[in-house]
Amino acid sequence: MSTLIKNGRVITATDDYHADIFIENDTISVIGENLTMSADKVIDATDKLVLPGGIDPHVHLDMPFMGTYSSDDYETGTRAALHGGTTSVIEFILQTQGDTLHNALKTWQEKSLHKAVGDFSYHMAVTDFNDDVAKEVVQMIEEEGITSFKTFMAYKGALMIDDGQMVQLMKVVKKHGGLVTVHATNGDMIDSLISKNLAKGNTKPLYHYLSQPEVTEAEASGRFCDMLNYTGCPGYIVHMTCEGALNQVRKKTQRNQKVFVETCSQYLMIDASKYEQEDGAKWVMSPPLREKKDQEALWAGINQGLVQVVGTDHCPFTWEQKQMGKDDFSKIPNGHPAIEHRIEFMYSEGVRKGKISINKFVEVCSTNAAKIFGMYPKKGTIAVGTDADIVIFDPNKTHTISSKTHHMNCDYSAYEGWEVTGKTETVLLRGQIAIENGTCKLKPGDGKFISRGKSSLVI
Ligand code: URP
Ligand code: ZN
Ligand code: ZN
Repeated sequence: MSTLIKNGRVITATDDYHADIFIENDTISVIGENLTMSADKVIDATDKLVLPGGIDPHVHLDMPFMGTYSSDDYETGTRAALHGGTTSVIEFILQTQGDTLHNALKTWQEKSLHKAVGDFSYHMAVTDFNDDVAKEVVQMIEEEGITSFKTFMAYKGALMIDDGQMVQLMKVVKKHGGLVTVHATNGDMIDSLISKNLAKGNTKPLYHYLSQPEVTEAEASGRFCDMLNYTGCPGYIVHMTCEGALNQVRKKTQRNQKVFVETCSQYLMIDASKYEQEDGAKWVMSPPLREKKDQEALWAGINQGLVQVVGTDHCPFTWEQKQMGKDDFSKIPNGHPAIEHRIEFMYSEGVRKGKISINKFVEVCSTNAAKIFGMYPKKGTIAVGTDADIVIFDPNKTHTISSKTHHMNCDYSAYEGWEVTGKTETVLLRGQIAIENGTCKLKPGDGKFISRGKSSLVI
């Protein structure tokens, strides 16, 4: 199978040029002007952007959480991602406390291997660390292609590890060339604020927000940086929301240490005023949406190179699932649907509104995740010899986000009626047409597991 993409404007994290791209089987084989080779399929990309497939390194599919499961599974979630131009995702395996990493891996392989439509990899969430788990961490890196280890400084009793376990994990991960990632919020502070609010009868979604003030995230982010520095381990803070946490990283990384930061599209676009609405449960996520000043700090952080990645933390729950917390905000399953719209949002809100350059857009939506998580250059760029994961994007097409037209398995959109300029038109996954004319051409099982190596941004 061969494909020739003609006349597109190719954008990578560093380049912006007009060229044709010739793809043979799953790989880009030639890039040049006025290519004339014959191909099984020719795509005219005149007036279109040609982008590397998006990589979302923070999604939760079929995730057991807060007494239910996130409503997108590997099939519906990766398909929705492809519709929006995200060709690869990294999802989270959750170790059950008291059980092994290998058992968790097996469970997640069953969820994903025959169901994924787009490509995927796993972070391993270590929720219970001991000497046996330490050995398994090494096996994950050396035998399973899983090189990033997720930790939670919150969700006590389910996912949280203590600082002693964190430091021990960091030492093992550092020794074997991996990366520790973190949900950095102070779980104990949050739990006590939740209890206080509930005792006063404050049960509405607004109190989810008020129980997780900025300091809870800033404190944990700073503490995580200190533990990384003490152990020499490289780290990655997921879903950063606020100025206070970013300033901790700004200050701490004046030392010679590696701390990568991810924010998510929602924290750049919407704010905590949503929690005052009747349907505020739709935006109950952790950490919560913040203030306008935090959005400004995060956009600036992207341009300053302090924030390297924009993911989604896609973790959808239907409206019925959200009703689990109708009388108690602490029982609302945390998370919202977002996997499909990240690329379009970042183009429309970021590039079109002059907040980031077009190269920065590619860097934060694809290239940096590939580099940080050991997939580059196979994923994350457009170059000869790399996987032909390509998005043909119409930069001028305006459309409106709605649950009636999205592909995520969720009966509402958290962005209903939002006007977006820029639309994913055609998507190729390893040279195969994945999305064309609004239809997904791939089937469950076509998505492949990405075995990852060491980060190319860590010495
Ligand atoms: O609210 C969220 N973020 N749900 C998913 C779990 C997590 O903390 O990432
Ligand atoms: Zn989290
Ligand atoms: Zn998450």
